[in-house]
Amino acid sequence: MKSLPLFFVSQGRRALLIGGGMQAEAKLRPLLEAGFEVHLVADVLVPNVERALTDAGAHYEIRHWQEADLDQADLIIAADVSQQEAELLAQLASVRHIPINVVDRPSLCSVTFPARIQRGDVQLAVGTAGKATLLATILREEIEQLLPAGLGELAEALAQSKDRWQAALPKGAPRRDWLRSVWQEAKLGLPLQPQAVADWLQQRLPAERTQNGMVVLVGAGPGDPDLLTLKALRALQHADVIIYDRLVSPAILAMARADAERIYVGKNKGLHSLPQDQINTLLVEQAQAGKLVVRLKGGDPFIFGRGGEEVEELLAAGISCQVIPGITSASGCSAYCGIPLTHRDHAQSVTFITGHLQNINGNPQDSELNLPWTSLARPQQTVVFYMGLTALGAIVAGLLGGGMSQDTPVALIQQGTCPEQQLLLSTLAEVEADLQRQPLASPTLIIVGTVVTCAPQWETRKG
Ligand SMILES: C[S@@+](CC[C@H](N)C(=O)[O-])C[C@H]1O[C@@H](n2cnc3c(N)ncnc32)[C@H](O)[C@@H]1O
Repeated sequence: MKSLPLFFVSQGRRALLIGGGMQAEAKLRPLLEAGFEVHLVADVLVPNVERALTDAGAHYEIRHWQEADLDQADLIIAADVSQQEAELLAQLASVRHIPINVVDRPSLCSVTFPARIQRGDVQLAVGTAGKATLLATILREEIEQLLPAGLGELAEALAQSKDRWQAALPKGAPRRDWLRSVWQEAKLGLPLQPQAVADWLQQRLPAERTQNGMVVLVGAGPGDPDLLTLKALRALQHADVIIYDRLVSPAILAMARADAERIYVGKNKGLHSLPQDQINTLLVEQAQAGKLVVRLKGGDPFIFGRGGEEVEELLAAGISCQVIPGITSASGCSAYCGIPLTHRDHAQSVTFITGHLQNINGNPQDSELNLPWTSLARPQQTVVFYMGLTALGAIVAGLLGGGMSQDTPVALIQQGTCPEQQLLLSTLAEVEADLQRQPLASPTLIIVGTVVTCAPQWETRKG
């Protein structure tokens, strides 16, 4: 069966929906969303249909349909009807030249519903002429992931500013190239508010545009590549250059555009491969060369990731930048070990804190950990130490000195969410000795608090 996809102008048109069951429910929402004046006639209504009709203020009658119902219709949908009635309705619609969709009976339809993707006025439709509706649904799901929210607002903003960009750019290739470059950026994520999208586009209008590229700070999550966000994945797939840290796993880098340049700037403890000010300069230089730069960081860029400093530097240099958050290691590691960070019976708050030792007098042997131990030691909270492995002794001493009980459970998680993940469960009193027996390496996260007893292995832990 051949067909031609067309968009039905629904405003001010009447759709007659026959049926009030589950099939009708599935069709009612798109009809109402499209702005049809819906008239529903059904012997019975399922509660969801009744609620949707009432909410929308749509017209409905509980009775059997009759031929006269078709008279004012611009579109007929027959749902939940018998084969005999379906055939009769298809015939009546054909005589009147009214498009009809008979749910689940493609041979009786003159129009079919495609699988739809909608972002405001931007709509994509996938149809298979009724041959493989499930395939259309799967394709829709895949395409859905590729399109940023805010696309409808972008189309609106393009319409609003049409006079300006059309005046600035001749028809054909210049307009297409400009819009393509706008689209490359839009795919990484658009602002959420319509006005913010309009402002965003304003800065990219041909007259305002600089030759600079942009920098996207992307959170790569704690290690498991499946924990990447859709936005992060899109950014990786469009980057010209990726500047990445030690904590970014090879599996995540492998998801990036194959020909993207990869620059490692990772810092190992005490072994800085590139100082932060040089990383900042590198980011600015790469963006000034017109590239789309992804600054890829472990976890979340704004949690102990120096993302804030990089954003400040970029903005000061006039480079546009965006931040795509990632799952921070505290969330990832705790979830993969079955430890809820808050729990009604254990902790009403959670603190993320750095356990990084500060050098004093510029002497690496001479370091200290100055933290508010009394408040960290209070009960009914969870404390998560990032970068705390080297300072474990100082952490234990600080918490005990602040008044925390020796029995307080502690979890050390090495390479959380990765296949190499290791978990050490202990108590404040015993954790140092336990670590001697089961040494762990960086990156390791330390979780302190009674939530640790929720870990499935807690009851069977050694010692
Ligand atoms: C410089 S901080 C970066 C934190 C990162 N921005 C985040 O949001 O997770 C590095 C510390 O994060 C923790 N960390 C990061 N990834 C980890 C992982 N997969 N397993 C355990 N700890 C991790 C470790 O404590 C490590 O020393």
